[in-house]
Amino acid sequence: MTNLASKIDKDYHNQNPVLLVVLNGAFIFAADLVRRMEIPLQLDFLRISSYAGTSSTGKMEEHFLWRIDLKNQHVLIIEDIVDTGHTLHHLLDKIKAKEPASVDVVCLLQKPAAYAYPTPLKYVGLAIPNEFVVGYGLDYEGLGRDLDSIYTLKPA
Ligand code: IMP
Repeated sequence: MTNLASKIDKDYHNQNPVLLVVLNGAFIFAADLVRRMEIPLQLDFLRISSYAGTSSTGKMEEHFLWRIDLKNQHVLIIEDIVDTGHTLHHLLDKIKAKEPASVDVVCLLQKPAAYAYPTPLKYVGLAIPNEFVVGYGLDYEGLGRDLDSIYTLKPA
């Protein structure tokens, strides 16, 4: 976590980035990450979901979006986990339409085997196998976000 924070600090030095936290899943990761960062930054939040149970539906539901004007800003999206990448790329399209100076993503976890896009992710905490995980902000049907660590959900 500290390494990730220092790398972002270095890359965004003098850029005062806007960090956009994707709720609900990224709330704990974002709280830990930004507290380890040292550069000046703004934070805003949005909510989007594409999951039902343990599989991605591909159908995005946005409940609310950020309020900061992103035009000419350096935007860094904070995601909990990138699976197929559909949620992230849907969001990237929306953000690019606001004409930011740059847009990138930091995610806690990525499932590379499920990722359906050619663009690599710049900041990834940990690459994991294609399994469903809960804890540290990540849920299964609303439960498990409060767990202190990350656990693989085993089929019953
Ligand atoms: P994608 O659109 O397939 O990349 O799915 C990304 C979103 O699905 C994440 O932001 C999570 O909310 C959710 N998600 C994907 N995999 C998992 C998982 O293993 N555990 C909990 N949520 C997940």
